[in-house]
Amino acid sequence: MKFRKSILLSLISLSAVVLISSCYYDKEELLYGTAAPCTDTTTNVSYLQKVVPLLQQYCYSCHTGSFPSGNQLMGTYVADKAMAQSGKLYGTINHSSGYSPMPKGGAKMSSCQISTIKKWVDAGMLNN
Ligand code: HEC
Repeated sequence: MKFRKSILLSLISLSAVVLISSCYYDKEELLYGTAAPCTDTTTNVSYLQKVVPLLQQYCYSCHTGSFPSGNQLMGTYVADKAMAQSGKLYGTINHSSGYSPMPKGGAKMSSCQISTIKKWVDAGMLNN
């Protein structure tokens, strides 16, 4: 009996060590890995170089072509600008109340990506 108890105890402490160390590695990954901090401080956001690649990654798959989802067309400067002007572009990606959260069924864009798009909108949605 005593022997079993000590096995149980060492198992518990072993799993505690594993848990703690995995937390440690998680943090390290956060610091140096994928979750890079928002270092882009540019205020002059280029539509072609910054906004389009994001929309391409997160939106165009559903909102281009002859039958765009929700009848919301994107994918050209004119269409993207119109969506931005209506407030829907920022409202949906920011998950603001009153808007359908986008990208539909996917993870919310990072705050860094959202602020990049917001800067473009606030600067007048230039075709730059
Ligand atoms: C997987 C497909 C899919 C993706 C990806 C997607 N959408 Fe949508 N979107 C839809 C569907 C379906 C609707 C219509 C139903 C609804 O409103 O939820 C819609 C509706 C909308 C609307 C109208 C909603 C409203 O509240 O007026 C806007 C604006 C919009 N999408 C923008 C975007 C933007 C911007 C992105 C990229 C960040 C995006 N969508 C990504 C499928 C998608």
